[in-house]
Amino acid sequence: MAPPPLRHFTDIASLGQPTIFELLDRSLVLRRQFDDREYPAQTLVGKLQYNLFYENSTRTNLSFEVAAKRLGAMVSMVPVAASSVHKGESLTDTVLTLAAQGADILVLRATEPGTIYRAIAAVEAEGYPTHIINAGEGALGHPTQGLLDAGTVLHALGRTAKEGLRDITLTIAGDILHSRVAASAIEVFAQLGTTIKLVGPASLLPPEAPKGVKTMHEDLESGLHGADIVMTLRIQKERMQTGLGLSEADYHHLFGVTLKTLKAAKPNALVMHPGPMNRGVEIDDAVADDMSRSLIRSQVTQGVVARMAVLEWLHQHV
Ligand code: NCD
Repeated sequence: MAPPPLRHFTDIASLGQPTIFELLDRSLVLRRQFDDREYPAQTLVGKLQYNLFYENSTRTNLSFEVAAKRLGAMVSMVPVAASSVHKGESLTDTVLTLAAQGADILVLRATEPGTIYRAIAAVEAEGYPTHIINAGEGALGHPTQGLLDAGTVLHALGRTAKEGLRDITLTIAGDILHSRVAASAIEVFAQLGTTIKLVGPASLLPPEAPKGVKTMHEDLESGLHGADIVMTLRIQKERMQTGLGLSEADYHHLFGVTLKTLKAAKPNALVMHPGPMNRGVEIDDAVADDMSRSLIRSQVTQGVVARMAVLEWLHQHV
């Protein structure tokens, strides 16, 4: 028997492989339309979406807005800095205010782990039909980012989700410990059969390799060895209790992805970065701007279509 439909979009683990593959493949169809400048079917006309972001964002916030608008929804971006949040309003009161205004969809980004479930509990307790979507929750997860990252690779290689990435090695380099991007990427890429390696300074690696990860490395060269795809990550200073213990220059020297250090990966290895990039720290200009190998702009485009796929899916399956 099929599992009950999910009312909310909280994390990758609760989706299961068939849904993950369905969302990836749908995002690839939407990507083809996007690349051909075709207009998608307006499946969300009349729906109201609020974006409530308690952390800064450029790509995720705007792509959720653009994705919903491309599908015909109305979107309001809650101006958190100028809202009653700064008059001491609690998260649940803010969420319930938006639900009471008729929010069909609430896209929520939060700092505290557990916030997404608190918001869901609040709307469900009062019987609102609002669907809540996780747009990044502390260091815990960023499920739509995981879908867009894997979708970007499938698109670049011209594959479907079922064809998978069993012959592909992905190295994720940098601050893995504090990265919700890494957490969700590992979950989605593992479903596609990808060989996953992590590399970074010991202080930025998890104490044990997460499920789905083959090896962890503290030395960039061995971490990059054999990689077809290299995903670089920003050092998330805002999530560190103490400093990194390394200057940015030293970090760049040891872990920066540059034309030189990339030689350890497979020839023509492709490079990803979720943004925002700190150029000259985790990645060099020459790599970031090399259009023959950088997927960074493609990730941004895939961000729109991956979120469209999630919005359509919530609408159709609930
Ligand atoms: C990231 C995030 O906010 O989780 N960016 C993104 O969503 N594309 C990564 C980061 O903040 O470094």
